[in-house]
Order: sequence, then C-alpha cells, then structure tokens
Amino acid sequence: MSVPSVVAAPTSSIESAKQLAAWTAVDKHVFPNHQVIGIGSGSTVPYVVERILAQGPEVNKDRVFIPTGFQSKELIVEAKLRLGDADQYPRIDVTIDGADEVDKDLNSIKGGGACQLREKVLAEAADTWVIVADYRKNSQVLGTNWKQGIPIEVVPFAYAQVLRGLATLGSPAPKLRMAKMKAGPIVSDNGNFIIDAPFPEEQMKDPLTLLTRIKLLTGVVEVGLFCNMAKAVYFGNEDGTVTAK
Ligand code: 5RP
Repeated sequence: MSVPSVVAAPTSSIESAKQLAAWTAVDKHVFPNHQVIGIGSGSTVPYVVERILAQGPEVNKDRVFIPTGFQSKELIVEAKLRLGDADQYPRIDVTIDGADEVDKDLNSIKGGGACQLREKVLAEAADTWVIVADYRKNSQVLGTNWKQGIPIEVVPFAYAQVLRGLATLGSPAPKLRMAKMKAGPIVSDNGNFIIDAPFPEEQMKDPLTLLTRIKLLTGVVEVGLFCNMAKAVYFGNEDGTVTAK
C-alpha cells in the first residue's frame, strides 16, 4: 500500500520550521499503541499528518483520527486515514495542534482559523495535548506577537452585547471578524461568529483570569485562550533546530 502525500515539500524557512516542529512532536508523542488521535487546524498540522503517515500503513490501519474542523477533516480523508468524531471518542490518546502564540507557561492563543471551540474539546479530551509551531509563535507574554487579539466564538444573536461586555472588561478595540472584502462576518464550523479582542499587556500576563471573565459573558461559546493544558510545545527554528517548552 502506498503512503498518500498530504503536503508539498517545504519551500521556505518558515515552512521548514513548521515541518520540523510537527515531525518532532509526532516522534516524541505518537506511539504505535495510540489508537485515537486528535488532529488540529492550521498550516502546521499537515506536517503532523505527513509524519504520522510515515509511521506506516500497518500501524495506522487500526487508528481513528478526530478532526478539529473542516480543514483537518479534509486532511484526514485525503490521507486515507479513518475519520472519527469527538462524540464517538470522548477520550483521545494524543492531540497535536498549532497555535497563534504560546507564552512562557505554555498558555496559548488559538482560533486564528476560527476553530477554537472544537480545538479545545479535543485538547481536553486528550491524555496528551501537544502544540507545534514555528519560532514566530514563541513569546513570554501572550499578545506580544499576535496583535489581533483573543479569538472569541459567540452566538450571532449576542455579538453586539458581547462586544460591549469585552470593552467593559478592558479590551480597547474588540472587533467582529469579517470575511475578505467585508462580505459578511466569518462563520465558524458551528455556525457562530468570531470576535477578536485585544487586551492590555497587564491583563494578558494573567490569561486564566481573563479567560474566566470573558467566558462568563452571556453569548460567549468559547475563548481562544488555552491555559494549563499543553503537555509540551515544539517550535521549529530557521536554523534547523527545535526549541521545546
Ligand atoms: C486555528 C488555530 C491554528 O492552530 C492556529 O491559527 C495556528 O495556525 P498555523 O499553524 O497556520 O500557524 O488555532 O483556529
């Protein structure tokens, strides 16, 4: 049986850095006895699937792969791997996902691709949750590199009220995420809107408190702050090395 190819060879140092992080995470955390594997979203994750495929058809034939959204579902299908869903598999052996930024304590911002709700479900379901990213995502305090704010999934009916609530919590400029050419709001895989809410550095230094406050706003479905969840983070560097946190 030939192994399908799901990603082209990297053509830039950033792509090589993503591939390096992804391959390292798979080599260190995806074992032959792992049967249920969560596959995250974004441009780094195809390299995760590439490396899992390299473990061979024999080990992959009995595994089931759970996606965090439409993109990773397509990826799993294209790779000819067995697709499952979170409601069938509430316990996952290992989930590997990307991130928009990761701080010194392994807290992260996620949801640049609007998938944070399903990503958090698969992170919580996993015995081991691992982040893979290129070096640009590595920082001390969240919000240092990722400037567009915390992605927040909201029920469409409540978005204007949540915008007001976020301003009250201290966000200077929360914005409803719009499609290109302002064609309308971005809609998540769950039929909801996304708000991007930047917060001052002082508040970003305590992401758990911020997460708790935002989550209490009526109409908020999930917040793209992932606190105290990651077991390990791998950043690929331009010089071919990997930084592990
Ligand atoms: C999607 C996400 C992604 O994991 C995050 O945006 C990272 O993507 P990339 O690997 O393309 O940098 O959270 O909601």
